[in-house]
Amino acid sequence: MSGGEHRWWEDAVVYEVYPRSFADSDGDGIGDLPGLRSRLGYLADLGVDAIWLTPFYPSPLADGGYDVSDYRAVDPRLGTMGDFDALVKEAASHRIRVIVDLVPNHCSSDHPLFRAALAAAPGSRERSRFIFRGGRGHDGELPPNNWASSFGGPAWTRVPDGQWYLHIYDTGQPDWNWHDEDVLALFDDVIRFWLDRGAAGLRVDVAHGLFKHPGLPDDSGGSPHNAPSAFRHRPELQELYRSWRAILDSYPAEGFPGARTAVGEVWYDAPGTLAPYLEPGGLPQVFNFELIMARWHTAALRGAIDGVLALADGSRAPWVIGNHDVPRPASRYRLDEGFTPGMARRLESLGQQNAQLGAQRARAAALLLLALPGSAYIYQGEELGLPEVTDLPDDARQDPEFLRSGGRNLGRDGCRVPLPWTRTGQGFGFSAGTPWLPQPAGWGGYSAEAQSGDPGSFLSLYRAALRLRREHPALGRGALRWLDQSGVPGSLCFAREPGFVFAANADGAPFRLPPHREILLASGPVGDGGLPPGTAAWLSA
Ligand code: GLC
Repeated sequence: MSGGEHRWWEDAVVYEVYPRSFADSDGDGIGDLPGLRSRLGYLADLGVDAIWLTPFYPSPLADGGYDVSDYRAVDPRLGTMGDFDALVKEAASHRIRVIVDLVPNHCSSDHPLFRAALAAAPGSRERSRFIFRGGRGHDGELPPNNWASSFGGPAWTRVPDGQWYLHIYDTGQPDWNWHDEDVLALFDDVIRFWLDRGAAGLRVDVAHGLFKHPGLPDDSGGSPHNAPSAFRHRPELQELYRSWRAILDSYPAEGFPGARTAVGEVWYDAPGTLAPYLEPGGLPQVFNFELIMARWHTAALRGAIDGVLALADGSRAPWVIGNHDVPRPASRYRLDEGFTPGMARRLESLGQQNAQLGAQRARAAALLLLALPGSAYIYQGEELGLPEVTDLPDDARQDPEFLRSGGRNLGRDGCRVPLPWTRTGQGFGFSAGTPWLPQPAGWGGYSAEAQSGDPGSFLSLYRAALRLRREHPALGRGALRWLDQSGVPGSLCFAREPGFVFAANADGAPFRLPPHREILLASGPVGDGGLPPGTAAWLSA
């Protein structure tokens, strides 16, 4: 994808903001849009091209805002529409674009159309916008099929007149019926609404979901996790995405924010499942989660990268090492395994074991992420090396994954703890009030303030990497060529033209760096003994 017209999103570094945990301006303990605005200077210094805001819409917060009750408004706890407009404008003055989250698989059970469906009779027009069915069993007392909610428990809830409605996630998140024309029209409007307000693009939540097999057949349970099924990766999706692409492309590309993008959240069993999404004319981009799924091991990482590169590069399938749904890299890499739901519990049982190893590998992973061809996403706090917080009190936890699994699964709150901005003080500079999730005692040590002047800090590493990435002609879009370090176990080395070499030692004995002129940046000390395990370096060649 190195030829042709250059679109900004093909090599953008996008910073994911979880607004409720980023910065709070009014002391209610909940991060908000004015708080985010006040920290745009920090993001500009970091050197990101865009921010993706996870949902900031009115919501009863059954799932951290992914239960939307009004798609065209701002949650009053987070600000006003005026605040959103001001954010877009001020971000633009820093050359930062704003991507918003579109949540089309489901809404909130508080959404007026779902309330109308509940108030209406079985078989009504109102109910047909959602997926209502009679139950099985003698009296309809059993759910219509055996589908499970992704958060645990059944995917169906019964309403007083005896029908059941489908929710692949929480009870408070009824699935839309994408075979209904009203639903199509509603989302066309929502997309235009945010693009008209200057959004540079959309992150599409659960983009592998939406359409369900009309017969709602039982799940055989035999297929691998996230494989195509009656409710995942349905063929109808691609026509829908072509129609959304036409909307995106109908916005003039000249000037800021340029061509609009959409990046689909598509969880998959194997990279090949992404292929239909990568056909021309569909969503501009889908995330590839290879660096989240792969364990910290040379062959596993290389295989993961090649699996995607065989289909597309990161300009269509951006790279990512973390987000608000998975344990933070600095903790995840303490284990020699790729992400699986439930991993947070195992991290909890580690105590302080391997803490330094995890942080060291996360620094190397950051250099890998930012050296791969195409676009990359950074989740807030990754640049500070924040660990997963595994010891939140149970009564503070809010994630439905925790609540619906009866605590078996620790859930995702541990990667959503509000950011530390200052070394000390109330909320470590996040809020003058009490943060909505408690911050650990040592949180100030990770703060932007504590790390800013320290050349050895995570923050300094990210700043330097982003600066080099902007300046170096080999980085961003393009291709990579693996350097044959065969016979050197643990080595993960590739060249990018012109004149750039990436070298990492995942897990082997120290080895000599490939031929190079100088070390541009390294994630840790590189001495005469060679590149130690868990270390990466950017080299000029
Ligand atoms: C996506 C979001 C996640 C949410 C789920 C349901 O996976 O990233 O946070 O819980 O969709 O909307």
